[in-house]
Amino acid sequence: MSGVTNPAGEYRLYCELAGWWPLISPPEEYERDAALVAEAFRSAPQPVREVLDLGSGGGHLAAHLKGLLEVTLVDISEQMLTVSRELNPECVHLKGDMRTVRLGRSFDAVLVHDAVDYVISEADLLRVAETAFAHCRPGGIAVFAPDYVADTFAPGVGGGGGSDASGRQASFREQTSDLDPDDQCIEVDYEFVLRDADNRVQVVREVHRLGAFRRQTWLAVLAAAGFEPELGGSGGPVTGAGFGLVNIFIGHREN
Ligand SMILES: C[S@@+](CC[C@H](N)C(=O)[O-])C[C@H]1O[C@@H](n2cnc3c(N)ncnc32)[C@H](O)[C@@H]1O
Repeated sequence: MSGVTNPAGEYRLYCELAGWWPLISPPEEYERDAALVAEAFRSAPQPVREVLDLGSGGGHLAAHLKGLLEVTLVDISEQMLTVSRELNPECVHLKGDMRTVRLGRSFDAVLVHDAVDYVISEADLLRVAETAFAHCRPGGIAVFAPDYVADTFAPGVGGGGGSDASGRQASFREQTSDLDPDDQCIEVDYEFVLRDADNRVQVVREVHRLGAFRRQTWLAVLAAAGFEPELGGSGGPVTGAGFGLVNIFIGHREN
């Protein structure tokens, strides 16, 4: 797949189904990840106050950070930004591609949480790291948290879901596999079952192609973008949905 395609922008999950995101992946499930990200921010040499969240999705992680930090959210999907604005009305939301966006200002920290999974070529990974560097103040920090790395990837199954006060319910199952162990990509086969308040059910199946880069690739790319790279996180294998954040790559911007 070419390095400039943008399959994430075309996935139904983040476009026509975006309104289901808070039920598919409820905000409360992001509390632990947010605590780990906040801990990574504390390793910066100077206090972190202003944060740029690239690929912010429904703003579920940001919702747990915004109390202490001033978070600016960027996503490529207008529909996901709409969902996030509802949860985080006090935050600035901007439409942009994490590979190319330039806001013309800098932040104490840049975060690229699980949205970085949608980067599927090394060239694009470098572009994302360069975006992070361009928005990071000297002495600042960039935190990247991919769900998968090639070093620990193991095929698996998972699932989850939730409901809301209107009576809507959503659940999903996922199956991860690696069709070509040489390409630093994996596939996630999702099945979403979406029940609206009038009990109408739709079942949607969608395969997402995600990056699973080697740790060495991550560290080399961060260095190439200008960061002092650091490996964080517990680094354990990912075994299914709801696994929480285990891979953290940190870039320190010295000057
Ligand atoms: C798994 S969701 C992120 C969920 C988010 N962590 C949250 O707290 O709700 C992935 C998001 O990445 C976004 N995305 C994918 N590729 C992108 C890109 N190149 N630039 C910006 N956003 C992108 C999608 O639109 C989607 O909203």
